Amino acid sequence: MKITSTEFLKSALKEADWPHDSTPEVAFLGRSNVGKSSLMNSLLGVRGLARASSTPGRTQLLNFFLINGRFRFVDLPGYGYAKAPKAIKAEWSQAAEDYLAKREQLVLSIHIVDSRHEPSKQDLQLHEWLVHHHKPHLIVATKSDKLSNNELRQNTERIARIFRTDRVLIYSATKKRGREELWGAIEKSLKS
Ligand code: GTP
Ligand code: MG
Repeated sequence: MKITSTEFLKSALKEADWPHDSTPEVAFLGRSNVGKSSLMNSLLGVRGLARASSTPGRTQLLNFFLINGRFRFVDLPGYGYAKAPKAIKAEWSQAAEDYLAKREQLVLSIHIVDSRHEPSKQDLQLHEWLVHHHKPHLIVATKSDKLSNNELRQNTERIARIFRTDRVLIYSATKKRGREELWGAIEKSLKS
């Protein structure tokens, strides 16, 4: 994919404030700090685009980016951030859940996990929800540069086993590993 333009559109929480046109969307989801913004930036080949919109206080919002004027990336709020107040946590998950459940423009959910760690209970819940609701999704294990090949193989197998899937895409934002493969999957979803 050749990136010709990337544009931050808006941050929004409620459905009424999400973009209204039918442009297809790819959503990025996962735990807080898992590497969502870094992954989006490395895919797009820009620094700080995703982060630019997620200043503290706005991190609970959904961030919409227009790519090549043709499709959108949506950075969903990360879950499992222990320090967030309860009320904010509830609102976070509600907004993300609303988005996943209702959004007709959504063509692919990219579920990001840390290749070093066992998936959390929330990771599993999210995965089961996506499967149950027949939402096209892809599991990406990022920060792979932090592991040896052997550790990476073992951990990827464990992640696949826990999620009961045969496809876990290995990624590294710093090394840009997995970038072509992930773009391939995104392009396929945009076409179908
Ligand atoms: P929140 O928006 O706060 O939920 O975090 P996030 O999921 O967007 O994570 P972010 O991209 O901000 O990355 C968190 C930390 O992990 C940062 O210090 C990144 O530099 C680091 N990081 C992200 N991806 C990678 C990677 O592939 N390799 C390495 N070595 N570090 C990474
Ligand atoms: Mg982020």
